[in-house]
Amino acid sequence: MTRSKLQIGLFGYGCVGQGLHDVLNSSNGFKADIVKICVKDRTKQRRIPMSNFTFDKDDILNDPSINLVVELIDDADEAFNIVTRAMKSGKNVVTANKMMVAKHFRELVDLQKKYNVSLLYEASAGASIPIIRNLEEYYDNELLHSLRGILNGTTNYILTKMHNEGIPYSEALKQAQEKGFAESDPTLDVDGWDAKYKLCIITGHAYGLFLDPDEVFHYGISKISKFDIQYAKEKGLKIKLVPYVGKTNDSTITSFVLPRFISADKYLYNVDNEYNGVITEAAFADKQFFCGKGAGGHATGSAVLSDISANSYGYRYEYKKYQQGTVSDYTRNHKLEIYLRYNDEKEKELFGFEEVSEYFSGRFNKYVIGVVNLERLYAIRKQLPGMDVFIVNTGRKITPAAYTDASLGIGIKEA
Ligand SMILES: NC(=O)c1ccc[n+]([C@@H]2O[C@H](COP(=O)([O-])OP(=O)(O)OC[C@H]3O[C@@H](n4cnc5c(N)ncnc54)[C@H](OP(=O)(O)O)[C@@H]3O)[C@@H](O)[C@H]2O)c1
Repeated sequence: MTRSKLQIGLFGYGCVGQGLHDVLNSSNGFKADIVKICVKDRTKQRRIPMSNFTFDKDDILNDPSINLVVELIDDADEAFNIVTRAMKSGKNVVTANKMMVAKHFRELVDLQKKYNVSLLYEASAGASIPIIRNLEEYYDNELLHSLRGILNGTTNYILTKMHNEGIPYSEALKQAQEKGFAESDPTLDVDGWDAKYKLCIITGHAYGLFLDPDEVFHYGISKISKFDIQYAKEKGLKIKLVPYVGKTNDSTITSFVLPRFISADKYLYNVDNEYNGVITEAAFADKQFFCGKGAGGHATGSAVLSDISANSYGYRYEYKKYQQGTVSDYTRNHKLEIYLRYNDEKEKELFGFEEVSEYFSGRFNKYVIGVVNLERLYAIRKQLPGMDVFIVNTGRKITPAAYTDASLGIGIKEA
């Protein structure tokens, strides 16, 4: 396979941009020239000569010698503007911006076709874990039942520090920010938005549905308390933020992002700090587990480099599951068992518990464990940030006749 010579225009020289620069310089087998780097802040000290930089995006977008734009900025709207302009002028693009891809997924897929260009974004979900290309290529003909995992390094770092070292939430978040794991706006991490954007991108490649992120329920960890951590510890569990997508029947999927209890015998239990882990469950391959660093300049830069390299031999996503069109529907009519820590009985009533298996009422804390419908959680999603509650998915499979591919006689158990 012949490789085309890459002339790169780079947008962003922050945590990931510099990480990419380092991994590119350390990569002996692969050469690409960074022609120009576009950044925003004219006053910032840079670690390489200023002659490498520009503050004008047109210096890259209008340069005919640049055939690949690598977009690594922290502003999703401006990123969309840059990426679409680059694609419309015939340049291939590599990006790590999950918010941008998830919010404009369908449009970006169409633009690739219309302008005969490629857009690769492996680093946008799971950072160093090559999950998108795996879903695109490896699971082509597999009957993929579900995918779940840890997709946000910041929240996993915070939860690890709280669980293992008893560090308060705010201190753990500060550490994650200092280490360069957190988004510029950390509410995107801690409130579950970032995990949801990644889940939506993964869903496109796993099942061929380009979901509007607003249609997907998400809930993060910003309301977690010492009591919740203590509850989990006493039961030998950890709390992890776990996005899930899976089939409810042959043509329908459901998805959500929720904190989840993980017991010590499960793969995700030992995925700590900024590491991410993804579990796929498929009819014939059964369970598979991918693990790797989910944040940080070098880990993310290595995924960006992999996309740059793939670009040099003409790789493009074919969106095979979308072409196949086997999955056509999305539902939130799905039952979940949750732990709800709460204070006010009226707030608890809003969840519409259908069954309750455990109930505790102490002087300072109350909790209930029972079955709710995802549709109900979605209906009250805008009220949740104002409530004094914390929700954890227990992970117990309660959907009657859960999708276990009975026709093949293959039962898929919970991880
Ligand atoms: N950090 C991670 O671990 C990680 C992991 C996976 C994906 N990502 C994604 O990677 C992207 C970059 O993240 P990061 O952590 O590297 O962010 P960052 O450290 O905050 O750096 C952002 C960079 O973007 C530049 N920038 C912002 N607006 C710009 C504009 N309008 N024009 C040109 N340059 C602009 C900034 O310029 P100045 O230098 O002049 O301020 C800075 O160099 C984001 O989409 C993020 O979601 C990050």
